[in-house]
Amino acid sequence: MKNELNKVKRKALEELTSIAEPLELELWRKRYLGRKGLLTLLFKRLAEVPKGEKPTIGKLANKVKEDLTREFQTVANSLAARKAEEEKVLDITLPGRRPPRGHLHPITRTNGEICAIFSRLGFGVVEGPEVELDYYNFEALNMPKDHPARDMQDTFYVSDNVVLRTHTSPMQIRVMERQSTPVSIVAPGKVYRPDSDISHTPMFHQIEGLLVDKGVSFGDLKGTLTTFVHLMFGRDTKLRFRPGFFPFTEPSAEVDIQCVICKGEGCRTCSYTGWLEILGSGMVDPEVFKIVGYDPEEISGFAFGVGVERIAMLKSGLDDIRLFFENDIRFLKQF
Ligand code: FA5
Ligand code: MG
Repeated sequence: MKNELNKVKRKALEELTSIAEPLELELWRKRYLGRKGLLTLLFKRLAEVPKGEKPTIGKLANKVKEDLTREFQTVANSLAARKAEEEKVLDITLPGRRPPRGHLHPITRTNGEICAIFSRLGFGVVEGPEVELDYYNFEALNMPKDHPARDMQDTFYVSDNVVLRTHTSPMQIRVMERQSTPVSIVAPGKVYRPDSDISHTPMFHQIEGLLVDKGVSFGDLKGTLTTFVHLMFGRDTKLRFRPGFFPFTEPSAEVDIQCVICKGEGCRTCSYTGWLEILGSGMVDPEVFKIVGYDPEEISGFAFGVGVERIAMLKSGLDDIRLFFENDIRFLKQF
């Protein structure tokens, strides 16, 4: 009996090593462990074993059954793992999955639209530094140190003479310093101020415009900016030129367009005035021309600075500027 048990075990394990298919494995199980299997038959014959040998033979029989069952399970597992691996193989007949496609940020897009309009009107596009010398941001724009106008544009100082620019106007100086008239450029970029509420963020974008030539008048300024507003918002958009003050333009005007949220009725976004300021502008001050070495008797010019976020808000009827920079994908997806 003992010999027969060991023989069955040896044979069963030997056969198991050459099994490569689940079906073969199942046949093997039936052959040894099934209801009429070889090992099961031997179990049935345990009754014949002489009484004295019963405990040892019984123990051996159980041990053989355990071993065969365990080996069966191991092979079954490895066959299942191999099958799973095979199923992972690339199926080139499956339809492809497209990766989700992103798009430009609404501010980048609006910036591009504004620049495109001014390009059509004959302005070139230039860029300059966000970290700027005090000289270009203030001094050369007729705001000497201690000038009260600096209070309106307090900023982040990198060192005594280096600031994060508070507007794109330093580009007027940089451009005039390096070229002679006529000049017609726009200069888009980031600017920084210690502001924060529903219509102001500490970092925002402006587009500076500058046109200098012989005989440029305030009429040219009005015509250019009116054309811009009409191309950007449509021909029937109401706008107004409101007297303003900038140390580097004289006279100066701020341009408002009718609030698109309330259609001029007055609401939170327009501070109940019915109008929203989109840009500052004016005729370049003769003092500024002198600083860059232009002759104010010979030429004249106008300049303006557009707030890009304001334009984007008005275009999309948005009432809180901060949404642009919260990076909530559900918001950004709508553009
Ligand atoms: C200026 O920055 C002047 N440099 C504009 C200028 C250029 C005048 C050339 C004359 C000649 P102002 O501070 O008004 O002006 O800002 C211009 C525009 O930027 C505003 O009309 C507004 O649309 C936008 N703006 C100002 N502060 C913020 C802010 N914190 N967040 C978002 N937009 C702002
Ligand atoms: Mg202003």
